Amino acid sequence: MSKTITFKVQPGGRLQGEARVPGDKSISHRSIMLGALAEGVTHVKGFLEAEDALATLQAFRDMGVQIEGPVNGELTIHGVGKHGLKAPAKELYLGNSGTSMRLLSGLLAGQAFNSILTGDKSLSGRPMKRVTEPLASMGADIKTTEKGTAPLHITGKAGQLTGIDYVMPMASAQVKSCLLLAGMYAQGETTVTEPAPTRDHTERMLTGFSYPVRKQGSKVSINAEGCLKGTDIDVPSDISSAAFFLVGASIAPGSDLLLKHVGINPTRTGVIDILRLMGARIDVLNERVVGGEPVADLHVVYSPLKGIDIPEELVPLAIDEFPVLFVAAACAEGQTRLTGAEELRVKESDRIQVMADGLQILGVDAQPTADGMIIQGGQIGGGEVISHGDHRIAMSFSIAGLRADAPITIHDCENVNTSFPEFKDLVKHLGLDLVCGER
Ligand code: S3P
Repeated sequence: MSKTITFKVQPGGRLQGEARVPGDKSISHRSIMLGALAEGVTHVKGFLEAEDALATLQAFRDMGVQIEGPVNGELTIHGVGKHGLKAPAKELYLGNSGTSMRLLSGLLAGQAFNSILTGDKSLSGRPMKRVTEPLASMGADIKTTEKGTAPLHITGKAGQLTGIDYVMPMASAQVKSCLLLAGMYAQGETTVTEPAPTRDHTERMLTGFSYPVRKQGSKVSINAEGCLKGTDIDVPSDISSAAFFLVGASIAPGSDLLLKHVGINPTRTGVIDILRLMGARIDVLNERVVGGEPVADLHVVYSPLKGIDIPEELVPLAIDEFPVLFVAAACAEGQTRLTGAEELRVKESDRIQVMADGLQILGVDAQPTADGMIIQGGQIGGGEVISHGDHRIAMSFSIAGLRADAPITIHDCENVNTSFPEFKDLVKHLGLDLVCGER
């Protein structure tokens, strides 16, 4: 049996000081994928050394790519070129990582070898038809379970994929990226139209690797006529990890925090916009562009928050931050209402249900709806909550401790290691009394 981890948080505290949170998860995954397919060497720094990104790294090692590191977030990837991957000797195990599985399904559909993608219990329950159906219309052969879930059995169709013009039914960067990667192996043009802007790290990084990709309004297009040239990548800190501290400092009186070198790509900054609408005091300082991605230092101080109706256009731009935004709403004066966020039900857990259950245990009036939640701000109490193996749920309830009036115990916190292994030490260092128990 693998060990279970429990966080116990004492109520109160404030967050003070300076921190650099770990590297961006989305960019780290893509750095391995594109670096592996490039001609020549790619150096990466700031790589996220956490289970999800390491699962992608291992998958490419399993396909014959030589990768040195990571050592202190630095990697050297010896690219094998677009057609240089080798058949893996065994199935590719991707742990908890939806990004690895969905992006790899597109990349592997057009290879000259077969592959099998597997994951843990959570990943094996997540919908994969959103990628396998459009890939099938490109000529891919991918078998899922009857429910449309992993394992994915991919029969490589080298030279047999054709481009499609696909209008995505949901705003998903994973689906978009999957199809763009498949499009690098398809005859003709592949065009993906998104119903709302989603993170564009794949498009930016393709450009950084000198691979032609065209963007026109909500459409992105790619074809097979290009090759990736090895490059240097500096991964910014993950705004999704910074979000726990943005909320923590906003809700805990006396907080004053500087978060350094955070990625502020406009397709990711919904959390700042939503918190500011609620009355948070966040300053974006020292803006710069690093390796094609905008970066800044974020200064946040405590400020009383008020409830809002969250604008739906901000939902895809803050999609991973809602667990902790629900905690902000629980501390705000008045009602906060989220709509248009049904995608939260198919993340690492059903984040609407799991957060509502946990908040209710802590005495918060949180009503789940089909596509969001209605929360009345008030006092947060103590109690025992379960993260259901979802890293962001575990970290969000830890942050709730800053405003609780009794201890909070959070069960099932192992998966914090998928995105932010340093969380417990960093949050303690900055001012939250968190003790981590292992069994
Ligand atoms: C990601 C896209 C988002 C996000 C996930 C990472 C990516 O998923 O929730 O954590 O790296 O492309 P969806 O594409 O399912 O919205």
